[in-house]
Amino acid sequence: MRALLLFLARMEGFKNFALNFKFFRNAASRFVAGETVEDAVRVVRQLNQQKILCTLDLLGENTLTREDATKAVEEVIEVLDRIQSENLDCTVSVKLTQLGLDLDKDFALRNLMQIAEHAREKGNFVRVDMENSRYTQSTLNIVARTYEQFGNVGAVIQSALRRSEQDTMRMLQKGIRIRLVKGAYLEPASIAFRKKRNTDANFVKLMKLLLADESYHAIATHDESIILATEEYARTRNILKDRFEFQMLYGIRRDLQFRLAKDCYRVRVYIPFGRHWYAYFMRRLAERPANVAFLVRNLFKE
Ligand code: FDA
Repeated sequence: MRALLLFLARMEGFKNFALNFKFFRNAASRFVAGETVEDAVRVVRQLNQQKILCTLDLLGENTLTREDATKAVEEVIEVLDRIQSENLDCTVSVKLTQLGLDLDKDFALRNLMQIAEHAREKGNFVRVDMENSRYTQSTLNIVARTYEQFGNVGAVIQSALRRSEQDTMRMLQKGIRIRLVKGAYLEPASIAFRKKRNTDANFVKLMKLLLADESYHAIATHDESIILATEEYARTRNILKDRFEFQMLYGIRRDLQFRLAKDCYRVRVYIPFGRHWYAYFMRRLAERPANVAFLVRNLFKE
């Protein structure tokens, strides 16, 4: 099921079919704040009021033209301006294929630098999401170069990849802030752990490296046992609650988000918004077969 959904996520034909059905859009609204900046800002405001930090993701990936990539840069800059003018506690997350990585690496680098420079002027921070393993090295290189110039850019490391411990060490040596995730893409067994228990064990190992480091990192998971292991590790090592943050996705485990915020942990919710919600939504479906039943229920509600 997971492989099928991830395959459909990349199929243009199925995408066009899905976009024509309202029930797909309705189901996606569980995970996506809406299609406009207004929608996104409204959600951030509500969460900030409940002491939850946010990061906004303007949806879009694998941009096919320079014009679309440039437009994405302008939109992210507009989001940064809105965050400042509304005084929101919110960063931005971007994908390099949205900024033109498939077209030209230097072009994507320049685009990220433009966003980072604007974010620095606004006192904000840019997280670069990690996409599938075809992009791992180029993404880390571009993050490192942008970090050297502007400082306010962070990377994402996927515990499912065998290379991730080495990548983590390299990023830590440079002082780059990391968001640790399990990884949302189906990768070949030659480079990735296929068994959940191995990905989870690697996550815990990397979590300890991050918490022991002096920079401020993010533990991004809804996995309750890993969250408890993180809390326990921090407690036994006397690592203060404000030295790191938990991150979760909009629409997933809200109970856990509020429980952690209530316990004085820093919690940031990743909020996707925009018209290009299809691939993101399909990855969320693929993570949990129960979500497909949720989609089917929406179909019958129509
Ligand atoms: P796991 O999949 O084991 O799920 C643990 C529990 O969480 C489940 O039992 C269920 O209760 C709940 N849950 C998880 N996924 C759910 C879903 N879709 N619907 C409903 N419940 C669900 N990946 C990536 O490759 N690159 C990236 O840049 C990012 N960025 C990112 C940011 C943030 C803030 C988060 C939280 C996650 C990402 N991810 C990501 C996604 C990540 O790699 C991973 O696919 C998801 O977080 C699901 O894995 P969990 O760690 O939650 O564990």
